[in-house]
Amino acid sequence: MLDKDIEKVLVTQEEIFQIAKDMGKKLSKDYKDKFPLVIGLLKGCVPFMGYLLTEMDIHLEVGFMDVSSYHGGIESVGDVQILKDLGIPVHDRHIIITEDIVDTGKTIKVIKDLLLYRGAKSVIVATLLDKPEGRVVQLVPEYIGTTIPKEFVVGFGLDYDEKYRNLPYVGVLKPEIYNK
Ligand code: IMP
Repeated sequence: MLDKDIEKVLVTQEEIFQIAKDMGKKLSKDYKDKFPLVIGLLKGCVPFMGYLLTEMDIHLEVGFMDVSSYHGGIESVGDVQILKDLGIPVHDRHIIITEDIVDTGKTIKVIKDLLLYRGAKSVIVATLLDKPEGRVVQLVPEYIGTTIPKEFVVGFGLDYDEKYRNLPYVGVLKPEIYNK
């Protein structure tokens, strides 16, 4: 039923599973014996983070922050609001932020700076998707699943107006959906 609103598929479910496997393996190697704190930025992180965690064969801690920078439309408004804070001390911790997508980079920049200010030992970004053409702040995610063009995408955590997060792949919406 959701398929009919999608113009084209950009990243298939099989590709996402493979990305989670490869990234999980690499993170497990890089963070062995570091007991990293893996922070998901809600709500978009949920499906990818779920798969990524099960591919990490090391001890780790999980935390969440609810952060908002879009307000129902297809353009980032740029002012990042923390709707729910982490609630875990980060002093001296190695932190991996998991994201669905990095676009302008503003969300990650704000959160990264905040965690470093709070005393984190290291903060890196592991994202399913990177949209480098959208960048307005200087930020290169350390772990990138795949790079996509500057298009508005939905699925696998990414929403339009809170919908389509449950699509099992990443796709481009038909323009008539957001021109309605
Ligand atoms: P940034 O601060 O512009 O990097 O945006 C990060 C957040 O904006 C992501 O976590 C997403 O929630 C949202 N976002 C950015 N691009 C898209 C998109 O193409 N579709 C849906 N949400 C997006």
